[in-house]
Amino acid sequence: MNLKRKIANEEKINVALLGATGMVGQVFAWMLSRHPWFRLSYLAASNDMGGMNYGKAVNWHLPVPLPRRAAELSIDPLPADWGLLEERDIRVVFSALPAEKAADVEPELRERGFFVFSNAGALRTRTEVPVLIPEVNVGSLELIRDQGFPAGGFVVCNANCSTTGLVLALSPLRRFGIREVTVSTYQSISGAGYPGLSALDIMNNVIPHIGNEEEKMIVETRKILGEAFPLFPRCVRVPVMFGHLETVWVEFTQAVSTGDVAAAWNTFESGAGALPSLPARPLLYEANVACPQPRHCFAGYPQGMPVWIGGLQAREGRIGFVLLVNNVIRGAAGGSIANAEAFVSIYGDE
Ligand SMILES: NC(=O)c1ccc[n+]([C@@H]2O[C@H](COP(=O)([O-])OP(=O)(O)OC[C@H]3O[C@@H](n4cnc5c(N)ncnc54)[C@H](OP(=O)(O)O)[C@@H]3O)[C@@H](O)[C@H]2O)c1
Repeated sequence: MNLKRKIANEEKINVALLGATGMVGQVFAWMLSRHPWFRLSYLAASNDMGGMNYGKAVNWHLPVPLPRRAAELSIDPLPADWGLLEERDIRVVFSALPAEKAADVEPELRERGFFVFSNAGALRTRTEVPVLIPEVNVGSLELIRDQGFPAGGFVVCNANCSTTGLVLALSPLRRFGIREVTVSTYQSISGAGYPGLSALDIMNNVIPHIGNEEEKMIVETRKILGEAFPLFPRCVRVPVMFGHLETVWVEFTQAVSTGDVAAAWNTFESGAGALPSLPARPLLYEANVACPQPRHCFAGYPQGMPVWIGGLQAREGRIGFVLLVNNVIRGAAGGSIANAEAFVSIYGDE
C-alpha cells in the first residue's frame, strides 16, 4: 500500500482507533473526523456494546461537538478480530489504550504488520521504539527499521503529556547549553483519563503527587533530546479540566538573556517541515505575566497544538518561564496524529 500515492490521488488512508471512548480517544475521534489524509474507519474500546454506535456509547467530554461521522461508526470490543482491519484496508492504528493493555496489544499488532501510533507509556523505554515529537527529533523515526519496517510493522510512541510541553520549550534553548532544569507541573484532571479521579478527591483540592510522572519526565526528556542534564520535576494535580501548566527554571552553561531566549522561541521552526497537524509556529511566546492560562488551551491553530509560553524572567543566572500544553491534544492524540503524518511524509512510498 503506497500511502503517499493515496494522498497524492486525494484518497484518504483508512485508520483504526483503539480506546476510542476514553479522554484521548475522544480527541482522536474529533481530530480524525476532519483530517485531510486519514479516514476514521474502525473503533474499539473495552466493553462489548453489542454493535452500538459511538455517539450512543461515548460520554463526550470535549468542549467541541462530537463529529457526526464518528458518532455513526459502530464500536467493537477488544480483543478484536484483527483480520477485520485488514479486510478494511487498514494498516495505520492509533492507540489510546491504558498502558497495561497496550503492553499486550501493541506488540501483537506490530507482529501482524500494522503501523501503530501509541499514546501509552508501555513501550516508550524500549530502545527500538522512538518517542517522537516531529519538530524536535524526527530523525528518531529511523528506528522503525529496527522493528522490521518496511517488511513488517512498528510502534511509534508520543511522549507523556507534561514531557511534550517541556521538551518543545527546551528544544530551541539547547544552543545555549542546558546545565540543569527544575520544573513544577500543575496538571489537569483530564490527564488522569475518564472517569479518572473521584470528585471528592480533587474538588477544592490539590494533589501533590502523580504516580510515576516525575520518573517519566526524566527518562523521556533524556531519550528525546539525547542529553543527560539533571532534571528536577515535581508533578501536581489541580482541579482544572484541560491543560497542563508548568513553571520552569533553567541554568545554562553560557550567559543568556531573556531576549536571547525569546528570540530562540520566536524563530523556532519544525524540523519535520509542514504537516497538516503541526502549527507553523510550535511555540507561542507572550510577554505578559498573566499568560499562559489553562482556559486558553483549546486556542491556536491547529486548535490545541501550539505550546504557549509566558512569565519569562532572569534571576541569579537562571532563566524562568511558564508554559501551557494541551495535554489531550498536543500531549496525546494530536501528537500521535502528527507522528503518523511525519511517517507518511517520509516513508509513505516504501
Ligand atoms: N489523558 C491524557 O491527558 C493523556 C496524555 C498522554 C497520554 N495518555 C495515555 O493515553 C492512554 C489513554 O488515556 P486516557 O486518558 O484516554 O484513558 P481513559 O480515559 O481511561 O480511556 C481508556 C480507553 O481504553 C479503553 N480500555 C480500558 N481498558 C481496556 C481493556 N482492558 N481493553 C480494551 N480497551 C480498554 C477504554 O474503554 P471503555 O471506555 O470501554 O472502558 C477507553 O476507551 C493511556 O495510556 C494514557 O496514559 C493520556
